Formats: sequence, C-alpha cells, structure tokens
Amino acid sequence: MKPRFITLEGGEGVGKTTNLAFMESYLRTRGVDLVRTREPGGTPLGECIRGLLLDSGTMTGATELLLVFAARAQHLNEVIRPALAAGQWVLCDRFTDASYAYQGGGRDLDTKVIGFLEQWVQDGLQPDLTLLLDTPIEIGMSRAKERGVTDRFESEHLGFFEKVRMAYLDRAEQYPDRIRRVDASGSLEQVQAGIAVHLEQLLTRSV
Ligand code: TMP
Repeated sequence: MKPRFITLEGGEGVGKTTNLAFMESYLRTRGVDLVRTREPGGTPLGECIRGLLLDSGTMTGATELLLVFAARAQHLNEVIRPALAAGQWVLCDRFTDASYAYQGGGRDLDTKVIGFLEQWVQDGLQPDLTLLLDTPIEIGMSRAKERGVTDRFESEHLGFFEKVRMAYLDRAEQYPDRIRRVDASGSLEQVQAGIAVHLEQLLTRSV
C-alpha cells in the first residue's frame, strides 16, 4: 500500500481527539503501519513552540503564523517526510489548513503570505486526505467549555470561531478532492460512520 498522509481538522469542541483515536485504530485494524502526530507539535522543538502558542500572553498574528510554520518545518523534516519515506502512513491532528482557518480566517492575515510559507516549507507536499469535522459554532463551543481548560485560542470570542469555521468551509470548497467535510453534530456513531467511508475510499484507492 502506498503510504498516505492524512490530516484531521476542525474548530474547537468538534471531537478531534476521540475521532483521531478511532481513525488510528480503524487503520491499524486494516494492517496500516502509521505514525500518529499533531500540530503544532510532533517534535521536541515543536512541542516547545506549541507551549508558546497556547500559553503565552498576547502575540501578534504575524508571530503566531511564523511560529506555526516554524514548528511545521521541523515536523516535516523530523517526522512526516521520514515516516512517508519509510512506507509508514502519517495521521496528523491539524496541519496547514488550520493556518488558513485560524491565522487566515480568525486573524485576518493575508492568505498570500500563508501560501508563500506553505510553498517554502512543504515544497509541494500535501495531505492525501483531510477530514474536516464541522459543527455549528454553538455546539462546538459548549462542548469545549465542558472540557473546562481554556488556552489562548479557546478563550477567543465567538466571532473569531465563526471566521475560523467559514475559512475551513471555504478550503473544503476549494479542494473538494482532498478535503472531505464530515458533519460532527450527530452522534459519535454517525460521525465515525462518516469518517470510515472516507478512510475506506483511501484504503482502496490505487493512485
Ligand atoms: P488543539 O490541537 O488542542 O486543537 O490546539 C491547537 C491550537 O492551535 C488550536 O486552537 C488551533 C491552533 N492552530 C493554529 O492556530 N494554526 C495552525 O496552523 C495549527 C496547526 C493550529
């Protein structure tokens, strides 16, 4: 099987953690050798950068964007490219679509700048499949609040998350072959059935 690069995206409280575990076990059951990782993070340096991003006080949008790409450059070099080269699949909790959604949408940063960084750091590498867990903001936010912990992003206002969601949906429209929207407002069984359809398609894809 050709090694695949899969990313999972979505706003706050969409159930990424639970569904990522489901995806991992679904793929492992099908005999896939995979590396599960996350952004920002995934390397010792990337995890330090994650700490800065989530726990610092105020930060300019430009600082934020450069930090996520700094972590990504390291992650690609240390984890993602070596795993794919070794024939392993990569399952990543968030990737560059999150930069378009949070920094481009949420922070209103110029997407041309994001595109430049994307090209520079990724050099053409894109996920084979991105699942976008999507739910109305109110549902996601109330689930996130139940979790109790609030980091620098989670403490943003509703308007910020509306813009994040819109930017994600725009991306899904722009890249319909790669980004598949999964309705995350239903029951866990429904959401996971939706995810499984896309994983099956990828498992049986010949190119
Ligand atoms: P999470 O992994 O718990 O969702 O937290 C990561 C946070 O980082 C999340 O609020 C979204 C944010 N983020 C960005 O703003 N830009 C990015 O490029 C990535 C990967 C994450």
